[in-house]
Amino acid sequence: MSRPEPHIDVRPITEADIPDWIRALNTGFLRTPDVAETEIADRSSYIVPARTLGAFDAGRCVATFRSFAQEITAVGGTPVPADAISNVTVTPTHRRRGLLTRMMAHDLAAAKDRGDVVATLIAAEYPIYGRYGFGPATSTAQWTVDVPRTGLDPRWAGPEDGGRIDIVDGADVRKIGPELFERVRRAQPGAVDRDERWWLVNTGVLRLDRSPWTEPFFAVYRSAGGEVEGLVSYTADDHWGDGKQPLNTASVNWLIAATPDAERALWHYLCSIDWITTVKSGWRAPDDLLPLYLPDPRAARVTTLADWLWVRILDVVRALEARTYEGQGELVLEVVDAGGLSGGRYRLQAAADGASCTPTTAAAELTLDVADLGRLWLGDESVVRLVALGRVREERAGAARVADALLRTSRRPWCPDIF
Ligand SMILES: CC(C)(COP(=O)(O)OP(=O)(O)OC[C@H]1O[C@@H](n2cnc3c(N)ncnc32)[C@H](O)[C@@H]1OP(=O)(O)O)[C@@H](O)C(=O)NCCC(=O)NCCS
Repeated sequence: MSRPEPHIDVRPITEADIPDWIRALNTGFLRTPDVAETEIADRSSYIVPARTLGAFDAGRCVATFRSFAQEITAVGGTPVPADAISNVTVTPTHRRRGLLTRMMAHDLAAAKDRGDVVATLIAAEYPIYGRYGFGPATSTAQWTVDVPRTGLDPRWAGPEDGGRIDIVDGADVRKIGPELFERVRRAQPGAVDRDERWWLVNTGVLRLDRSPWTEPFFAVYRSAGGEVEGLVSYTADDHWGDGKQPLNTASVNWLIAATPDAERALWHYLCSIDWITTVKSGWRAPDDLLPLYLPDPRAARVTTLADWLWVRILDVVRALEARTYEGQGELVLEVVDAGGLSGGRYRLQAAADGASCTPTTAAAELTLDVADLGRLWLGDESVVRLVALGRVREERAGAARVADALLRTSRRPWCPDIF
């Protein structure tokens, strides 16, 4: 049972609070609570104190919360300003007293005032964030590929399409990666932007005590025209069966591709490396084409399928106008928001040349919680399913099917990143 404790001060931190805030963060995430000087220097370089909250009990930090400016790609490719939430912890001695609720209310109110369209996060546990209006909006999948079973030609000697694959180093990745990723994420609903620091951390320039660095292999795919269209980072283990039989696993850290040709070539490359008998895909879109690039798709077994990015709609009008729709039509939605940020009745008019969304007093056709609007926004959930679950109420018979025809997408959204 949550009990309010007004004597605990919830506020943005100052520079001076950073070491104590990091200690509380590490305690909440069950990492060693020592605070290394290098971690203070690193976190101080990107933390924005005004958007970093702490809860202080008798001056000691007992809860942490941080948000930062992010762009998320809406369905159709428009980047939308988002309030990305991270580093959420409450020290075990102070749990279930409403501290997360207070920090969340503080941050979402500021995001709304700033004009952010949505808030985003990746949830450590499913039950935490629905109460604050977040819905699971994308999923992620991991595959394990049994290479000898793929049916790929063991004589594969490179892409058949005239493209080529080269091993490159971290410096090359920092040169070619950001531009390729921009191209990829702008075409991928649910993807979020990467800053320069992401590339420094993921090429080993910036080494963090909390996640030891192993130098990976990097491979780039260039099309027949010489254009960079795909990049993969992977590691390989050293495993010999009976001392004579190479049985190595390649584990993908990340793989980005701007075209299906690039993607196919990189998966075939990974499955063709001598000694490699298993490929672990890393976090992929739930409808990734990986299995279907293999002559025998059953060689790729799903080992994880889980919710990933959660979305909280802060501005219904801009969120629904930013995206495109598969069809044309109209819908009146009653959005219920216990958080008091985005509730109201809205008429969505979707057409091929754009959508409009306006507050209305017309009769609602569907009533839904703002968390379910977040779940639907990127097109990955079906209104018909949510009606069956009793989460969405159909006020006009057939409205759920109309909504699905508008909102759902032919490819599923995906967020390649964790934050
Ligand atoms: C998750 C966490 C931040 C919650 O903080 P908290 O201060 O205990 O949360 P609150 O007291 O504000 O909880 C508000 C409500 O959510 C519920 N709740 C909070 N965390 C929950 C969880 N993990 N599972 C189920 N319900 C949870 C509370 O029971 C409370 O419900 P009530 O209002 O019906 O009583 C804290 O438990 C924690 O630090 N966990 C470990 C680190 C972690 O998982 N962080 C999240 C990273 S994404």
